[in-house]
Amino acid sequence: MKGIFIVLEGPDGSGKSTVIKHIRKYLEDRGIDVVETREPGGTAIGESIRRILLDNRNKTMLPETEALLLAAARGQHVKEKILPAIESGKVVLCDRFVLSSLAYQGVGRDLGIEEVRIINDFAIKGIRPDLTLFFDVEPETTLHRKTQDKGGDRLETEGIEFHRKVYDGYLKIIRDCTERIVVIDATRTKKEVISQSIESIENFIKGRLL
Ligand code: TYD
Repeated sequence: MKGIFIVLEGPDGSGKSTVIKHIRKYLEDRGIDVVETREPGGTAIGESIRRILLDNRNKTMLPETEALLLAAARGQHVKEKILPAIESGKVVLCDRFVLSSLAYQGVGRDLGIEEVRIINDFAIKGIRPDLTLFFDVEPETTLHRKTQDKGGDRLETEGIEFHRKVYDGYLKIIRDCTERIVVIDATRTKKEVISQSIESIENFIKGRLL
């Protein structure tokens, strides 16, 4: 059977990177083969591109450069890792995907949602997540926490106006979107966020087996 492609999305510091580990364990404990991965990154080339993107010394990077580097890393990721895993029947859990670029570069950087969609379509040739979990929490709540902890990378240290734009962008794209996206209330306790996420995935898998 064909595998399942699940993506976790949300603002910086929304907790998805912690929750993904719990989802993975939950699925593996049930004998399901899981590939956990992330963007930007997921492959050796993608991780090299990630370092360039997040490097605080690259303050002069143009929005176009940023969007193209992200799409390049994503293309590599899809062909080298995501598609082969799905074709061999695995569940792929991916921390961020195209929706991040639409919100951060399309809206946050003002490049335009459709323009960013076009370069991503070129890079990834039509693959879409089967299910996306959006970790919904306002950036004012999370960003402070993140940048206080460890200073923050090039994107995290963008001002709150940028992250507010990204968050509003996410909400707009989700509203207009035809893909299957479940909104998770990420203001709840970690335990509740994990169980909401697992429940959504279980419902999706059950629906597919019917
Ligand atoms: P991520 O590793 O998810 O950071 P965190 O775990 O701290 O939330 O993503 C790194 C940064 O890259 C994050 O600020 C979001 C940004 N990003 C984009 O701007 N566009 C994209 O397409 C992706 C995948 C990430």
